[in-house]
Amino acid sequence: KGRRSTNIVWHKCSVEKIDRQELLQQKGCVIWITGLSGSGKSTLACALTRALHSRGKLTYVLDGDNVRHGLNRDLTFKAEDRAENIRRIGEVAKLFADAGIICIASVISPYRKDRDACRSLLPDGDFIEVFLDMPLRVCEARDPKGLYKLARAGKIKGFTGIDDPYEPPLNSEIVLEEEGDVCPPPEVMADEVICYLEGNG
Ligand code: PPS
Repeated sequence: KGRRSTNIVWHKCSVEKIDRQELLQQKGCVIWITGLSGSGKSTLACALTRALHSRGKLTYVLDGDNVRHGLNRDLTFKAEDRAENIRRIGEVAKLFADAGIICIASVISPYRKDRDACRSLLPDGDFIEVFLDMPLRVCEARDPKGLYKLARAGKIKGFTGIDDPYEPPLNSEIVLEEEGDVCPPPEVMADEVICYLEGNG
């Protein structure tokens, strides 16, 4: 907020990302799951981390709701705080990727420019955006936390999809959506993501 560190110099270590990746036998990257509240981001993140873990891959999930319990507990849902939420999660995800870990971020991240800023933190190909494209009608019918009901009743102001914007991605690496009127099970969607990862090294 208008304040920046000055007089700082990057310090390089003799153990680098490439060394850690070799040790772990995997490539550090960020899988960024975006979508409305109730679209199933956290469920997909869990299914994906489980599937990768069982293949011997080291993963870590950064879930919006969870990170807001700690690191981002000072942030509200105003646009500028959402931007700061995404910026911090993007920077932390980048650190995990640099550690050689497959970092799965599951956050609404409603603004395109905030998501794109996170993408630009990583080398080409290391940021994989997954758009969980579930229609508002489906998310609202699910309403797992009862938040849509509260938002419709005016008890929560600025709720994404109701009276706050969600800008759908234009160029996601992966788009997951309903097939017919049925949402594929999380394990099937996780497999789709893993297929992409395998197909792209
Ligand atoms: S954001 O927009 O990316 O900063 O949001 P995120 O950090 O992912 O947090 C989303 C969860 O916060 C709860 N919640 C709200 N969501 C949207 N709008 C408003 N106003 C709001 N207030 C609380 C909600 O449980 C979201 O969880 P998910 O898992 O997305 O349903």
